[in-house]
Amino acid sequence: MLGIIGGTGLTKLTNLEITRRQVARTPYGEPSGALTFGRLCGVEIVFLARHGYGHTIPPHEVNFRANLWALKEHGVDRIVSVATVGGIHSDLHAGGLVVPDQLIDYTWGRAHTFVVSGEKPVTHLDFTEPYCSAMRQDILRAAAKKNVVVRDGGVYAVAQGPRLETAAEINRMERDGADMVGMTGMPEAYLARELDLCYAAIGAVVNDAAGRGASRNGIREEDIQLVLNDLMGRVRILLEELVIMDSPNSCIN
Ligand code: HPA
Repeated sequence: MLGIIGGTGLTKLTNLEITRRQVARTPYGEPSGALTFGRLCGVEIVFLARHGYGHTIPPHEVNFRANLWALKEHGVDRIVSVATVGGIHSDLHAGGLVVPDQLIDYTWGRAHTFVVSGEKPVTHLDFTEPYCSAMRQDILRAAAKKNVVVRDGGVYAVAQGPRLETAAEINRMERDGADMVGMTGMPEAYLARELDLCYAAIGAVVNDAAGRGASRNGIREEDIQLVLNDLMGRVRILLEELVIMDSPNSCIN
């Protein structure tokens, strides 16, 4: 079953026929909110709002382990994660969508693994390709079908937050090879790998990164809000197509 993790601006899916909400408990504590089970064109999916349904959990306090564990426990084997990002590359401006293919982790102090000492012999999981390529291709196919413009690939720099970056930090990230910056891509992607979940992300560019383009003189929350609604409208179209793409039901959408 497909699981969708919604980020800022995406706390629900409008066309989702909700069948039940399930409060989940895990060995790692509680997820960001109840799991929302529902159907899109007859296809069952689970939705979870990463920052809580009232958007009250900051990026560094998201219980990523509980979120991923709960989704897996409830039958999820594929995850598409939606996250807002700032655009670093000159291709990526506010209003753009991107399916990253790489990441760089700048976060610290987050519970970033399910591995604990003394349980099993230590292994080191391959993370050369942090995103599931089949899932990425499905997202790109859904975008093409719906004529939603999406950039294929890019390096997602995951910052600790909750503050935005300095211009110098963005310059350093660019030198490191980053194309976009967000706050929630890790440890989410790696924990999904540890649980053997097929995981890919959609980056919704809500602002030019600090010191770039329209953000040369700063980043204004009001400007982010202006692009967010339109962007999430396109993300919803994408997600719905992604769900129904392989549906046996003919769904007029
Ligand atoms: N930086 C970090 N995270 C973000 C940004 C940004 O500019 N925009 C949206 N999430």
